[in-house]
Amino acid sequence: MTERGERPPTTVYLYELAWILPSIAIPIGMLAALTVTAFGAGIHLPSQAGRVVPTRVAETAPFDAPGVKQTGPGQYEVALTAQIWAFAPNEIRVPAGSTVTFLATSKDVVHGLLIPNARVNVMLLPGQIAKVTTRFDRPGEYAMFCHEYCGIAHHTMWGKVVVEAAR
Ligand code: CUA
Repeated sequence: MTERGERPPTTVYLYELAWILPSIAIPIGMLAALTVTAFGAGIHLPSQAGRVVPTRVAETAPFDAPGVKQTGPGQYEVALTAQIWAFAPNEIRVPAGSTVTFLATSKDVVHGLLIPNARVNVMLLPGQIAKVTTRFDRPGEYAMFCHEYCGIAHHTMWGKVVVEAAR
């Protein structure tokens, strides 16, 4: 209030309104989309195979013994841990035609597991167990990469799946 009297009424210009309305509508729309996908559509982490105390991965089965285990004819399970900056195991060997289920988690920070030629693409989050199953039909070497930036030597974090020709 000034000596000169009433404050003039606020004027909202059309072009201001054109910015204000979307800046309200967009976050509300995103929140609605998030709510629908999280609770309505049941979209969640790549897999909810379970949880593990991130500081006790090395003592918790199956991650206390990372490696490849045959679970049936042509069926394998890989317990895999990620840590800066390596996978354990770093090399996985299976015969061609195998179905391989990866159970994987991280011992420290967020890592990823990407096997481009086998349609494996999961984040490895501390505390979360990722489970992904794939089939290796063709013999050869399949590179597996960490594809989440995890620090200074992130680019050195890779391993391979060696698929051996059936005899
Ligand atoms: Cu591990 Cu990037």
